[in-house]
Amino acid sequence: MIAGCACRPQSLPTMLSVFHRLSERLQLALDLSFPEQAAAARAAGRPLDPQLVAASKPEFGDFQANGALALAKPLGLKPRAIAEQIAAGLQADSAFTALCLDPEIAGPGFLNLRLRPEALAAEVAARLADPRLGVPLAGAATALPSGASSATPGGEAGLVTPSDPVIVDFSSPNIAKEMHVGHLRSTIIGDALARVLEFRGHQVLRLNHVGDWGTQFGMLITHLKQVAPQALTTADAVDLGDLVAFYRQAKARFDADETFQSTAREEVVRLQGGDPVSRRAWQLLCEQSRREFQAIYDRLDIRLAERGESFYNPYLEAVVADLDAAGLLVLDEGAQCVFLEGVSGKEGKPLPVIVQKSDGGFNYATTDLAAIRYRFAAPPAGDGARRVIYVTDAGQASHFAGVFQVARRAGWIPAEARLEHVPFGLVQGEDGKKLKTRSGDTVRLKDLLDEAVERCEADLRRRLAEEGRAESEEFIRHVATTVGLAAVKYADLSQNRTTNYQFSFDRMLALQGNTAPYLLYAVVRIAGIARKGGDVANTAEADEITGVFADSDHPLHFSEPQEWALVRQLLDFDAVIAAVEDELLPNRLCTYLFELSQVFNRFYDQVPVLKAPPPALGSRLALCRLTADTLKLGLGLLGIATLERM
Ligand code: ARG
Repeated sequence: MIAGCACRPQSLPTMLSVFHRLSERLQLALDLSFPEQAAAARAAGRPLDPQLVAASKPEFGDFQANGALALAKPLGLKPRAIAEQIAAGLQADSAFTALCLDPEIAGPGFLNLRLRPEALAAEVAARLADPRLGVPLAGAATALPSGASSATPGGEAGLVTPSDPVIVDFSSPNIAKEMHVGHLRSTIIGDALARVLEFRGHQVLRLNHVGDWGTQFGMLITHLKQVAPQALTTADAVDLGDLVAFYRQAKARFDADETFQSTAREEVVRLQGGDPVSRRAWQLLCEQSRREFQAIYDRLDIRLAERGESFYNPYLEAVVADLDAAGLLVLDEGAQCVFLEGVSGKEGKPLPVIVQKSDGGFNYATTDLAAIRYRFAAPPAGDGARRVIYVTDAGQASHFAGVFQVARRAGWIPAEARLEHVPFGLVQGEDGKKLKTRSGDTVRLKDLLDEAVERCEADLRRRLAEEGRAESEEFIRHVATTVGLAAVKYADLSQNRTTNYQFSFDRMLALQGNTAPYLLYAVVRIAGIARKGGDVANTAEADEITGVFADSDHPLHFSEPQEWALVRQLLDFDAVIAAVEDELLPNRLCTYLFELSQVFNRFYDQVPVLKAPPPALGSRLALCRLTADTLKLGLGLLGIATLERM
């Protein structure tokens, strides 16, 4: 047997379902070999650890258990002797021997484990029959044991359970301001993370924390009352049109005109005091923005529940009161502050999070504190979340570090809960500078998506002409839209999000390389092979071909190294999903899908499939089908639609 990808970093778990079963067998062998120590260790809350990991080199097999070395001291035995005892225990366990060949002891006491070919083939068959392709639901008995035990918290305290919601706070543009490429990144990354978490069975609250409150509404409302008073009394009286331009006009007046300034300040007070006319104006502005944002979300097929900053207004006073009661508040130059531990600014002074300004006003940080408090609070007074994830640009890292620390010290975060900032880098133009249009303006999201689709359409028409293919206008529009939007999303997701990323239409639309068009083509091609395979199968001897859909009478059978490489890559899907769920890095899934297409192409180029004789034909078609299913499911989790033809 040949190992899948020798370049796999050892930290990445592999073939998680198999890993999980092997861990259980090893645990049992340890318990049986060293009953007293195992019981004592378990009672102390730290069961003996077999230290199962993916094999560091393909020569060593599929997995290795390194636990014997660490156990030598507590057990008072030589590591090799421990390894021998575990190996003997494993060999007496039929569930183990069904899965693995005889374990080998290597070096000072490593246990090398090699999976049986028929066990791998059976695993492929099981995934083919499973619409979830082997990815368990969170909280299921076979929960993913990935790095984070926190993914399936089990603590007796029972503070958080797998049914408590996970919150993904993403997109979150600001009313009457530009929804810029940074928000696009947040939207795309946040949606992909939400999809993965939902697929794992978590109840996900997709929250759009829109900036719908603040002093800027004073000038916006003042301007609105002056230029379009009829809007306040008659529904749909005015079309505010481009709100961003409206914002600019208001700002220009605010900066130039002192009377306007003082009216705007009074307007803020009126709005906060709940004056009905001011509220109405505020609502109008929000509705207008909402319509514009929604057009983008619809286009990208993204669902979000709006819960803007204003939602937390009623809770701001309580935040201050709580912090005061916890003894965290310090009055500094008239402002209520919490000084951060372990974070200092210039001259080594600790930095504060300002909770209430000297004029009594609250700010962005106060609202985020109220949001955290609300999100973790038990229902009905809050969301009762067990994990809260914020997707914003890396520039907000210190803001979140600050409010997270304050929230923790205030005692608002349950012990088992996770609170995470998911930062991403800047979107740059091909010149490495901030993305701008040729005339130097900020790029509008709508224009950016339009251009991606237009370019795809032009490419497609050129290709159709070259190939002498005739397709309907409907087909062309559908393919161009799907590929164009997929390209924009995939380009963003396939980067390690923490780095800055250079936006390039040429690169994201290329048919070769780690791009959406490449993967969408792979899906079309493989689905085509599977379809043709179905036809071949129908014309061949029905009996011999039953293996196309493996059953116990016709198990899958693989012989070629390229087949085994593909099998192993396919079986890594569950491990990759677990990694994304834990680390919140969608590029892991992108890299996996790209590698899967490459491993598939190597297999398909080098091993006959449609021309293979019947028993091999069925097994190879099964690999084609599982590859197509995996690519479709994986792309779907990235928010990318696939095509039957293109
Ligand atoms: N509105 C903010 C911005 O445009 C992003 C909000 C992110 N979410 C949060 N809870 N702070 O930068």
